[in-house]
Amino acid sequence: MLQVEGLTKRFGALIAVNDLSFHVEAGQVFGIAGPNGAGKSTLYNLITGNYSYEGKVVLDGRDISGMPPHRIARRGISRTFQIPEIFPSLTVEETVHVGSRFGSRGGVDVQHASEIIDVVGLGEELYQKTGALNLLGKKKLMIGAALATKPKILMLDEPMAGSNTTEILSLMELIKKINQDLGVTIIIIEHFMKVLTDLAQVLMIIESGTLVCSGKPAEVIQDERVVKSYLGDSYA
Ligand SMILES: Nc1ncnc2c1ncn2[C@@H]1O[C@H](COP(=O)(O)OP(=O)(O)O)[C@@H](O)[C@H]1O
Ligand SMILES: [Mg+2]
Repeated sequence: MLQVEGLTKRFGALIAVNDLSFHVEAGQVFGIAGPNGAGKSTLYNLITGNYSYEGKVVLDGRDISGMPPHRIARRGISRTFQIPEIFPSLTVEETVHVGSRFGSRGGVDVQHASEIIDVVGLGEELYQKTGALNLLGKKKLMIGAALATKPKILMLDEPMAGSNTTEILSLMELIKKINQDLGVTIIIIEHFMKVLTDLAQVLMIIESGTLVCSGKPAEVIQDERVVKSYLGDSYA
């Protein structure tokens, strides 16, 4: 469904993403992990068209390299950010409608937006200002706004960051629901290995912008290179 070929991004002398290639199959949960500064968020920024780059991104057989973000969104890729980015003065409903408008040429699909608000469990907070939501609420809303664009692929950037165990379990349930019930392919960058081994069918480890290894999560976390370079001795 998504093919990434030889992706490279330089910021001056720094190579943030270095000749990275991988592919994601339809229906998959595809996990990405790696130390801070590995180039994970930059990779998202490349795929969603926020920066120029070398290499190729192909979605469903179509080359989307170099397309602007709104066109990539309309082709079916949506993402969330590490820190929830929302407009605090908008209501929950308005925020999801903004997402809905971003994903289409026409107006807001009110029916779909309402279904999405139910999926993320914010039906009771419909008319609340988003600034008043707690962290979990903000995260669910950001996922809802991304889903309102009707993506084929939802890319989550460290969705569990700053969350406690209860919140993590709730977000994991939501991600499973989005993948299994809505049929949305998921790419997830996550720091918590347990989340990735639980959710993902494929796990890719990157370091300094370069692929370390990828495969079945249970096997990847046993890989000597991963244990050494990323997880550290304590994890081993
Ligand atoms: N816009 C930018 N300009 C310059 N350097 C950047 C920019 N964005 C990211 N970087 C650098 O690229 C590297 C990868 O960053 P990032 O993709 O945010 O890593 P990760 O998400 O894996 O923690 C880091 O060294 C970071 O400082
Ligand atoms: Mg990051």
